[in-house]
Amino acid sequence: MTTLNYDQAVSYYDETRGFRPGVSERYRLALRQIIGASADFRFLELAIGTGLIGLPYIIAGDDYVGVDISRAMMRQIPAKLKASAPPALAQADITRALPFADGSFDIVQAVRVFHLLGDWRRCISESRRVLKPGGRLVIVEIRRPSDTASPPPWAIVHHKWGEILSDLGIASEDIRHGNGLTEALVAAHIQTVGGAAEVIDLLSFAEFPVSCRTMVERRAGRMFSNDWALPEDVFSRALRQLYHWLEHECERPDEAVARRMVFRAVIARF
Ligand SMILES: C[S@@+](CC[C@H](N)C(=O)[O-])C[C@H]1O[C@@H](n2cnc3c(N)ncnc32)[C@H](O)[C@@H]1O
Repeated sequence: MTTLNYDQAVSYYDETRGFRPGVSERYRLALRQIIGASADFRFLELAIGTGLIGLPYIIAGDDYVGVDISRAMMRQIPAKLKASAPPALAQADITRALPFADGSFDIVQAVRVFHLLGDWRRCISESRRVLKPGGRLVIVEIRRPSDTASPPPWAIVHHKWGEILSDLGIASEDIRHGNGLTEALVAAHIQTVGGAAEVIDLLSFAEFPVSCRTMVERRAGRMFSNDWALPEDVFSRALRQLYHWLEHECERPDEAVARRMVFRAVIARF
């Protein structure tokens, strides 16, 4: 899996992946409480992006360092901070050597990125190296709550898109979102390398409401990273079919529905 270039996502990232007001702040409080963070804890965020998770920490004055491979994504962070001091940010590929000394941080966290990584095991070993003894690695993805079985109505757009691409000869592993990593796989690996891991739902939250039409428009704008490598001709043909489906077969194209989701964390100690 090659590294995905999020420079192309800067202009729409916050609009399409942003949280409702207060969610990031509640996430920070929930994590701090679960890990029992004290005021002097040093945090490192891997793949901080535009700071959707990190900003409340920086604004609250936490000792917080962010890295990302995309300078363009990180450039959004100082722009969002009005009067505060410049944030501590570094460019780095988190699947290679991290630019920090051994034992530098109490907490290393990575939100919404492990599913995109190739050598995620290397990322875990580097995180372990830069953690202080007793420090914790927190790997977070946004997932459906375990108690809600049915997907939201607009999820059918992604299903339909998969069907169309498959009919056009694109293999399912090419259109799968990310590397298919699960909390169970990550936790098992951590145990294999001598650590201990627990899986915890940190916080449940409602997303912004979305309709099928909005999802189709996001596909059309190539806003999903699993479309970035599709050849232009395949993408255009698939899109025509998706619009045809939206106009002629989709039952409620404009009904906007909000999903309830959770921040699900693997919390590891070594
Ligand atoms: C889906 S965004 C998540 C950003 C942020 N954590 C959030 O939740 O909004 C994925 C981020 O991971 C970064 N990224 C992807 N692969 C990376 C790598 N190998 N090293 C460092 N950053 C990477 C991208 O540049 C992008 O900013």
